[in-house]
Amino acid sequence: MQLQLQHTVVGLALLVPNTLALLRFSCSQLVVERLDPLVNPGVTGSPHIHQIIGGNTFKPSMDPNSLDIPSQATCTTCTFADDFSNYWAILFFQARNGTFKRVPQKPNVGFEAAKGGMTIYYTPVISGQGKVTAFKPGFRMIVGDPINRAESNVPRQLTFTCLKDAYTRDGETKNFPKQPCPAGIMVNVRFPTCWDGKTLDPPDHSSHVAYPSSGTFESNGPCPATHPVKIPQLFYEVIFDTAAFNNKADWPADGSQPFVWSFGDKSGLGNHGDYVFGWKGDALQKAMDSNCNINCPALKSQTIQQGNQCTVKDIVGDNIEGWLTELPGGMAVDK
Ligand SMILES: *[C@@H]1O[C@H](CO)[C@@H](O)[C@H](O)[C@H]1NC(C)=O
Repeated sequence: MQLQLQHTVVGLALLVPNTLALLRFSCSQLVVERLDPLVNPGVTGSPHIHQIIGGNTFKPSMDPNSLDIPSQATCTTCTFADDFSNYWAILFFQARNGTFKRVPQKPNVGFEAAKGGMTIYYTPVISGQGKVTAFKPGFRMIVGDPINRAESNVPRQLTFTCLKDAYTRDGETKNFPKQPCPAGIMVNVRFPTCWDGKTLDPPDHSSHVAYPSSGTFESNGPCPATHPVKIPQLFYEVIFDTAAFNNKADWPADGSQPFVWSFGDKSGLGNHGDYVFGWKGDALQKAMDSNCNINCPALKSQTIQQGNQCTVKDIVGDNIEGWLTELPGGMAVDK
C-alpha cells in the first residue's frame, strides 16, 4: 500500500540517512488537445488526442533551438514550481453501442485537490551507490510504442494496475485489466534510466536511452556500455476514473474490456509515455544530489490549487465532451 510504503521509506530514511529518497509530486491537467510536439512537430491537429500536464510553453512546435522552456514558461501545473516539463497520455471508454466517452483522470492519494493529471516521481540511485545525471535542456524521450500490439515488445516497466481501492499496488499487467476496477485503472510508466550521454532527442525519441543491462533501476542494475550514464528514474502514475464505466451491461457483448487508448488501441499494449524536459536551471540536479524525500525544501514549490490555475488554450478545438461517435481525429479503433 502506497501510504504504508511511504511510511516505510520515511522510517528507513531516519535510520539510514539519504537512502531510497525520491521526489513525488502532483501535476494537474494543463489542456486536452490533439497536439504532439514530439511525434508531429508543428502540426495543429495531430492524429490522436492527449491529456497534457506541466508547463505552459506546450504548443505544436517546441523546437529546442528556438524554445528555452524554463525562461519562456510563466506557469506550471506541477507543485514543484520550477518543473515546466510536459508529460502526456489519454484513455476513452467505448460503450456497447459503439460511442466513446473520455475517461477522466483522478488525483492520487494525498493529492486530492488536483485537477486530474498525474503523480510524477524522479528517483536518484540509492545513496552511496553513485550519482544520477539530471536531464539536459532540450532532452526529450518516449517509452513504449503506440503501434505495438505484441505483449513481448512492451517494456517490462509499462503496466496497468486494476485498483480495488485507492491503495492497491499489486497485480500489474501489460494489457488493460479484463474486469471492472472499482477504484479506477492506474497506468504506470517507468522510463529507461540509462542515457548515451550525448543525444538529447534522436529522430525515434527513444534510442538514446535504455534500461539497465541486468537487474533493474531499483536493484541498482548496471547501465549497458552503449548507454553508460545513469539518469533519474522518471516514473509517472496516471489514474483513470473508470467508476462511471463499470456497468457490465455497457461492456462489449463478447465479454472483452471496453477501454481504448486515444490512438485506437484496445489491448493496452500500445501504452507509451512522452516526456519533454523543462526544469529550470539545475533544480532537478540539485534535488537529485540532495536526496530529497517526497518534499524538497531546496526546490521552489506551489500549492496544488496554484498549479490548477495554469492552463493553455486548446487551439485545435475538438469536441471532446459527452458521447462521441468517433475518437477525436477520427482515429480508427482496432478490430
Ligand atoms: C450509448 O451508450 C451509452 C452508455 O450506455 C449511453 O449513455 C448513450 O446514450 C448511448 N448512445 C446512443 C446513441 O445510444
